[in-house]
Amino acid sequence: MVNPEEFVVEKVEELRNTVDGKAIIAVSGGVDSSVAAAITSRAIGERLTGVFVDTGYMRKNEAEDVKRIFSGYDMDFRVVDASDEFYEALKGVVNPERKRKIIGAKFIEVFRDVAEEVGAEYLVQGTIAPDWIESGGELRDTIKSHHNVGGLPKKIGMKLVEPLRELYKDEVRELARYLKLDAAERQPFPGPGLAIRIIGEATPERAEIVREANYIVEDEIEKAAEEGKISRPWQYFAVLLPVKTVGVHGDLRAYGETIVVRAVESLDAMSASYSRIPHEVLDRISVRITNEMGDKVNRVVYDITNKPPGTIEWE
Ligand code: XMP
Repeated sequence: MVNPEEFVVEKVEELRNTVDGKAIIAVSGGVDSSVAAAITSRAIGERLTGVFVDTGYMRKNEAEDVKRIFSGYDMDFRVVDASDEFYEALKGVVNPERKRKIIGAKFIEVFRDVAEEVGAEYLVQGTIAPDWIESGGELRDTIKSHHNVGGLPKKIGMKLVEPLRELYKDEVRELARYLKLDAAERQPFPGPGLAIRIIGEATPERAEIVREANYIVEDEIEKAAEEGKISRPWQYFAVLLPVKTVGVHGDLRAYGETIVVRAVESLDAMSASYSRIPHEVLDRISVRITNEMGDKVNRVVYDITNKPPGTIEWE
């Protein structure tokens, strides 16, 4: 485990020595990019521009939350709403790796535009060790292409800076606590967002369904944790399946969508076990999803797969 104080002092010094021009960083509100942004802004201040890209696959209220998180940072900050472009690019795409590649490429396009606008020579990324380990290369197998890894700086024509590259999630979280960042206790959220939690085509309509279901899952789990019924899982979310099933809604036959609830315990995301959520809490989630979204969703299932063999996300 790194010593947070020493790590910050060392990295700030290192960044001051390497980043001699303007830099941009994509911030998601997640702990990795928030810590990378906090350390870099300490080093270079307003020469850093933080960019939040609204891909249309963000969680409910995410853009507002992220704005609040970064308003206190000593850096330039902007939000780019690129949702229509992302929806268009993912039209008809069902293959998980293609989705990830397309999203990665779109991110690059959006960044390139902002980078050109601000005249940035450096791209700062919150890449951590599991991101590049799982993205493969050399002797490693590609488990999944993390959106922020692979080929990015070459295409974008900027120098890549990755201050957290050697760290694992628990170490980054420790740093976030030391830096007193709001993001410290936020659960991880993948860069490709809800697009990889919609199995099959990630249409805007399906994004809306999984967004609402995900909101209910988060809300009920957080409430249960606050009430002391459970300890907050490491990660918890909803996945939308491309499977419709038969049910009854009122007196009528229903044919609706299936939502998977996933909650896991982990230390570093490299392995995970499914959370033993009490039935009482699962019941509240299921009843709320089917009551509030009953015209669309009529089945809720709980994922009891560990990692390995499953991964945490479904794609
Ligand atoms: P998996 O699904 O590989 O996920 O077990 C491990 C952890 O990484 C998150 N994840 C991502 N994070 N970009 C990210 O920044 C990505 O492309 C990505 N894919 C998965 C996932 O939510 C889990 O916490």
